[in-house]
Amino acid sequence: MGDELEARIAERALAYVVDPPRGDDPVIELASPAELRKVFDASVPLEFDSVATAHHDDAIVEAVDSVIRYSVHTSHPRFVNQNFAGPDPVSVAGDFLGAALNTTGATFEAAPVFTLMESAVLAKLGRIAGYVAADSDPLPTVPPGLFCPGGSTATLYALQLARQRLRPDVNTTGATGEKLTVFVSDSGHYAASKSAALLGLGTDAVIKVESDDAGAMIPDALGDALTASKAAGQVPLAIIATSGTTVTSAFDDLHALADHAEAHGVWLHVDGCYGGSALFSPTERHRLDGVERSDSFVWNLHKMMGMTQQCTALLVKEPSRLAECFALRADYLFQPDKLHAEYDSGDRTFQCARRVDVLKLWLAWKHHGDTGFAARIDHAVAMAQRGAARVASSDGEFAHVTGTFTNVVFGWIPPELRPTNLTPLSIPTLSAETHATLHAIPPRIKRRMQQEGSAMMGFQPIAGLNTFRLLVMSPTVGPDDIDSLFDQISEYGMSISAITS
Ligand SMILES: Cc1ncc(COP(=O)(O)O)c(C=O)c1O
Repeated sequence: MGDELEARIAERALAYVVDPPRGDDPVIELASPAELRKVFDASVPLEFDSVATAHHDDAIVEAVDSVIRYSVHTSHPRFVNQNFAGPDPVSVAGDFLGAALNTTGATFEAAPVFTLMESAVLAKLGRIAGYVAADSDPLPTVPPGLFCPGGSTATLYALQLARQRLRPDVNTTGATGEKLTVFVSDSGHYAASKSAALLGLGTDAVIKVESDDAGAMIPDALGDALTASKAAGQVPLAIIATSGTTVTSAFDDLHALADHAEAHGVWLHVDGCYGGSALFSPTERHRLDGVERSDSFVWNLHKMMGMTQQCTALLVKEPSRLAECFALRADYLFQPDKLHAEYDSGDRTFQCARRVDVLKLWLAWKHHGDTGFAARIDHAVAMAQRGAARVASSDGEFAHVTGTFTNVVFGWIPPELRPTNLTPLSIPTLSAETHATLHAIPPRIKRRMQQEGSAMMGFQPIAGLNTFRLLVMSPTVGPDDIDSLFDQISEYGMSISAITS
């Protein structure tokens, strides 16, 4: 590579991608906002003055080194913090290439290769989800969905599509004030409420249906909620099923929810942002049985599949609905009389410019094949099972809370409180003192992990009690990493409890 600034930055990025931090390297070098400002003041300050001066390349390269040094190393095998982790290196290179070719996926004219790649990938995802027949066209002119920027945006799209089917005039006349309702489990993602707010349905339109102990929607509770909503003069618009809840990885019973959707004539959207990728694994795909009966299905390939953020596919059962919902036929862009205009995707989306997120996925999928993709899921499940086994065999040191698939939710119990049952039903029965002691432990252990840079694992309240969440997303997480994560929690827990007792 040359001496140009871009070459020097790219060189560092590539070195990072091919040899990311691991082993004894820190997961994070924690710095406060004030410390970060000081670090950058030594090269290129973070803030801009009212007149921004140009900086010397050497200073910028020094700043780039600080960016890398003080960022969270999500590729590190002990980053098990949330439902994404370090990227598949091929997808990073694909993202870079897509950026280098800087175009918009909106038209065939500007993105001939990417348009066909999108068609190919969406058709393949559609076949895997049972949205299209196994022998259907592998390169359709109108694919069964679109790529969009993230799961929350896809939820917004899905609700807009649902409303367009129910009330085709609303796009032109505007919302009438009719009370349309959306049903999602009380463990579902907040994207439902945000989307309802943006669409003018109001967050009150989102009816949170009770979920079971594991976090899956109770189908009978959904039936009751639909009936009650109708009795109250509301009009049920959509059911959002969750395939892999964010916190506990619960999978809703899609057949049961589809029965309700069909009985009430309601749109069924499946939020598979996290768990949709189970479909890649022959042993895990049963978790989404019934997804083929849904009207739309979102799948975040930037979570379990390690594509760089963002890479989200929204599948739509009746793809023609996308154009019905979004087309405005801007004649300066979607001229019907230009070459291959029938392939243009831009009038089937809300966006105008659209990143070519498909490229990185296409490259990674061609590189790993179906078998490699399945192995990625199976490995993550096996590592989570190793974590669950450690909890189960710990003689009360760790207490299982919930979790399935690639997720284990658990607590660390100080010696004087062992054993303590932390299943979601038993948490409310803990004494106030025990609750307070256990609640304080995960944040303190997490803080120490960050301060020492040894690991990053998430925690969140379950039934009001802070608990750890081990989320395995990356193939870099090996058995030794799982073991050392638990060893670390054990060590930190013991030192905290020695100080407090
Ligand atoms: C179940 C679920 N749905 C939706 C989302 C939102 O996806 P995004 O972050 O891409 O907007 C998430 C993100 O974690 C999620 O876990």
